[in-house]
Amino acid sequence: MTKEIIVFRYGHREIRDYRVTSHCSLVSRALGAKKIIICGEPDKNMKKSVDDVTQRWGGPFKVEFVKDWKEELLKLKKKGYILVHLTMYGEEILQKEEEISKNKKICIIIGSQKVEKEVYHISNYNISVTKQPHSEIAALAITLDRIQKGNEFNIQFKNAKKQIIPSKIGKQVIDLK
Ligand SMILES: C[S@@+](CC[C@H](N)C(=O)[O-])C[C@H]1O[C@@H](n2cnc3c(N)ncnc32)[C@H](O)[C@@H]1O
Repeated sequence: MTKEIIVFRYGHREIRDYRVTSHCSLVSRALGAKKIIICGEPDKNMKKSVDDVTQRWGGPFKVEFVKDWKEELLKLKKKGYILVHLTMYGEEILQKEEEISKNKKICIIIGSQKVEKEVYHISNYNISVTKQPHSEIAALAITLDRIQKGNEFNIQFKNAKKQIIPSKIGKQVIDLK
């Protein structure tokens, strides 16, 4: 079953969060999500840097900004997405990954600053990736891998201009167009 995965980033402050939100976006794209929705300050530079990667290395992948997290999450729920909120306080991913991966449409919610209590209630799952505080980038990467069972390694990116030839030493890249 091909999954439709969206990542929802709760909170983005321009400049301060540039690097982490860019990395969340790049991880989302590389590991099989089709879109990242960011609730926070619209950041044209961040979007442009991720869009440039998608143009060169392929897609599809979109970066969108929204103002109202609740409206957006309820909209996604209505469209049939199950909401998986990543938090160190949640149920353990090892206990829930099988159940979650049965769904086709999945929205993974990651925080930045403190997430409002309501997010825990709106979400279908609150999931922890270890019971230790760490990073949304790491939690996201591990979750994308667990719910796709490694299938993200076989993604064929469309309209790529470049492709890497894996090499033992050095960098080998071919131009496709
Ligand atoms: C750097 S943490 C900040 C947490 C914030 N200080 C708070 O009190 O909620 C940012 C995000 O990383 C993710 N995260 C961090 N550790 C996690 C863990 N062990 N399991 C799942 N997600 C985690 C969560 O999505 C969290 O909202």
